[in-house]
Amino acid sequence: MHNTLAGGCSSPVRSGWSVGEKPFVQSRGDGAYAFDENGERYVDYVMGYGPLFFGYNHSALTAGLDELAARGVLFGSTHAEEELLARRLCAHIPSMERVRFTTTGSEATMSAIRVARAFTGRNLIVRFAGNYHGHFDAALFSAGASAQTAETGRSGIPEGVMQDVAVARYNDLESVARALRGRERELAAMIVEPVCANMGLVPARAEFLAGLRACADNAGALLIFDEIISWPRAGMGGAQDAYGIKPDVTTIGKVLGGGFPIAAFGGRADVMNVLAPEGPVFTGGTHAGNPFSIAVAHRVLDELEAHPEYFTRVRALAERLASGIRAIFARRQLAYNVVQSESIVDFMFRNGPPVRDYDEARESDRERYAAYYRAMLERHILLPPSQNEVMFLSTAHSEADVDETLSAIEESLPC
Ligand SMILES: Cc1ncc(COP(=O)(O)O)c(C=O)c1O
Repeated sequence: MHNTLAGGCSSPVRSGWSVGEKPFVQSRGDGAYAFDENGERYVDYVMGYGPLFFGYNHSALTAGLDELAARGVLFGSTHAEEELLARRLCAHIPSMERVRFTTTGSEATMSAIRVARAFTGRNLIVRFAGNYHGHFDAALFSAGASAQTAETGRSGIPEGVMQDVAVARYNDLESVARALRGRERELAAMIVEPVCANMGLVPARAEFLAGLRACADNAGALLIFDEIISWPRAGMGGAQDAYGIKPDVTTIGKVLGGGFPIAAFGGRADVMNVLAPEGPVFTGGTHAGNPFSIAVAHRVLDELEAHPEYFTRVRALAERLASGIRAIFARRQLAYNVVQSESIVDFMFRNGPPVRDYDEARESDRERYAAYYRAMLERHILLPPSQNEVMFLSTAHSEADVDETLSAIEESLPC
């Protein structure tokens, strides 16, 4: 049906390839619900892959958008609200002393890596298998999320790029040591999702993040936290605040725009000072810092600052969902592990202790997930069409939505 649209989609995970399904074609969204082309309603846990912390159309974000548009949707100039937003973000995330805005998370992480390379004068980046940082060359091989990385050699990523990126095992400091052996003085930065939500939900062990901090310091390199999913779901200070570990550079996005395209990277002032025009590193963009997205991001912060109870409410919903799924598994004698971190819930079709890394995540039974995805869709629950992705709760979800979901899971399992 969507033949002129390459791959039938604008981002491959949406195509349904991972669950062997046709793409879910959405006509609109409202609160916690997605609607298909026939106007049928689904309880939605994709939530735009994370940004929709307030659901689809929370009035605090969408009211009066025409007034915003009336003053101009795009300026080719700097404007005062960019500086104000940067200050507000730095107040919440003190490791960020200076900030630059981008349009997408991919640009934020790509730029953070460039800045780290320029600041250190080194090239090597250590990344972790199963972490997803966006769709640029250095980030794509051995990445989680929907990135199809099996055929890297044919995927348009030059080998030269791969030589300067070492991929280590998540939650495994020895594998970092192995990746770095003899190359410590080449290391520019390590980049990590402190709460990984791209190989299912796998929070880092605290000792792992502390070990990365120490390792970066010993090597004279930088530590980059990719908090594009974890901020502010882990709290207004991000996962770095929850773990008590200070990265040199942080990337944020997704919830920052509440659905509008905006992301940012920020960090130590001396590091960020390499950016042009003060320094030699160029990053920019026609839509970077556009007044529309910046204004909506201010509204997101207004809402989060005024309503700390949102975090408690969404966490309670996530706990209700997670404990309900655990109860179903116990009744059915299924040994799958349910993982929940704040407003995110996930389980994999894999017996045994919780997943720690990508090798373990890949042991999960993908065909079972595909059958489960289909069974849930038939019951009007929209799950992410890939087992690497997670369930996102929002302030728009209700206890009734969660209970409807649990009934659907009860009927769909075992599959
Ligand atoms: C942790 C993380 N970093 C970076 C990105 C890339 O962000 P974007 O899709 O906005 O380019 C994503 C997207 O899912 C992500 O999950």
